[in-house]
Amino acid sequence: MTDLLWQKPGVEVDARIQAFLAGDDVLLDREFFLHDIFASSAHAQGLQRIGLLTSDELAGLEQELTQLAEDFRSGAFVLDARFEDGHSAIEARLTERLGDVGKKIHTGRSRNDQVLVATRLWLKEKLAHLQALAREIAKVALARAEAERALPMPGYTHLQRAVVSSAGMWWAGWAEAFIDDAIRAGDTLALIDCNPLGTAAGYGVNIPLDREHTTAALGFARMQVSPIYAQLSRGKFELAALEALGSATLDLRRLAWDLSLFASAEFGCIALPAQYTTGSSIMPNKRNPDVIELMRASHASVAAARTEIEQLLSLPSGYHRDLQATKGAIFHGFGRGLAALELLPALLASLEWREERLRGAIDSGMYATDVAVEAALAGIPFRDAYRTAAASADSAGRGRSPEGSLAARRSPGAAADLRLEALRERWQGLA
Ligand code: ARG
Repeated sequence: MTDLLWQKPGVEVDARIQAFLAGDDVLLDREFFLHDIFASSAHAQGLQRIGLLTSDELAGLEQELTQLAEDFRSGAFVLDARFEDGHSAIEARLTERLGDVGKKIHTGRSRNDQVLVATRLWLKEKLAHLQALAREIAKVALARAEAERALPMPGYTHLQRAVVSSAGMWWAGWAEAFIDDAIRAGDTLALIDCNPLGTAAGYGVNIPLDREHTTAALGFARMQVSPIYAQLSRGKFELAALEALGSATLDLRRLAWDLSLFASAEFGCIALPAQYTTGSSIMPNKRNPDVIELMRASHASVAAARTEIEQLLSLPSGYHRDLQATKGAIFHGFGRGLAALELLPALLASLEWREERLRGAIDSGMYATDVAVEAALAGIPFRDAYRTAAASADSAGRGRSPEGSLAARRSPGAAADLRLEALRERWQGLA
């Protein structure tokens, strides 16, 4: 790390202390660097609009920022330990290329300002991606619910065979879950869609910054008004975003559990395409559903990120360097969570049911609830009907079929009245 921006004459820099302070910053800031450059350009435009930069100076800065972004993408510029962080790297590069004009970029802003706006833009991008993925997953589930509405499968509670169910019901459950997850991602996106740039280190600055301009230029829905709140929202918004992600990865975790069980020899009711399984290095007979297991594991990273940030936020108002650690958490949580969700639509589209195994797992007792409810319909008090049905559960299936049970399951949302139209309508509203 050469030439710290804030270095004071006569104070010696201790390399070990600096390395501790920087942590993984330059590595993590790579993730946010393009957003930082984009926001730097909007900041420069704002300075020009209030007369603090000439049009030529602005043109020079914008050109160099565009070039820096290109060099970063191509690998010609590497953000590494030469720099304290991404923010100072931008300033150093502009100063190297433009001299005094480059030194003007930091007028009226702080690195706290920079990191807030860059991570805010990044979070918006991730939430939009989450929303699109959840929508895509719901789409596959809806289509399969429609196509397989009549396919009988065992319904379990407590991992015990409970009642006759259908693939249509199973898919519709995931469809509605991921529609909600998409809505939650969109709602959270709307919550955090506000521009913190121009709040300086959390107390504003003695310049009438054109915050309306930077808000529009960066595509934010509104300005985050209070500089103090801008700092308070760091971490809080990250948590909200991780909560939204966690809704989806929790659904994924439960779905992955179903698939793991269904793929076992004991259940044996699904077949996974070969590319979703791996071989064992020692047991030649095995194909392991590793993809499903790592999908299931992804929620652990999201939950860890949430916990890390929640613990960090035990702070008074204002900026504290503690907040730097929110970056690693969101990077890890979103990295793992989205990577797992990305693989899900294709996996769901390609899994195959073993229909004879599904049917074979439906035993006589699974009709006992139907028998009891039918007797109640005929006028027998339900508790008495329940006792009679319990006593004869072994023969409850006599003369009955899974199809018959499903055809009679007409409570709204159940097999005979799936209400997929209602789900489809909500799905369409997601766009
Ligand atoms: N790396 C810091 C962070 O992520 C931003 C830089 C602010 N540093 C400082 N000493 N004020 O929060």
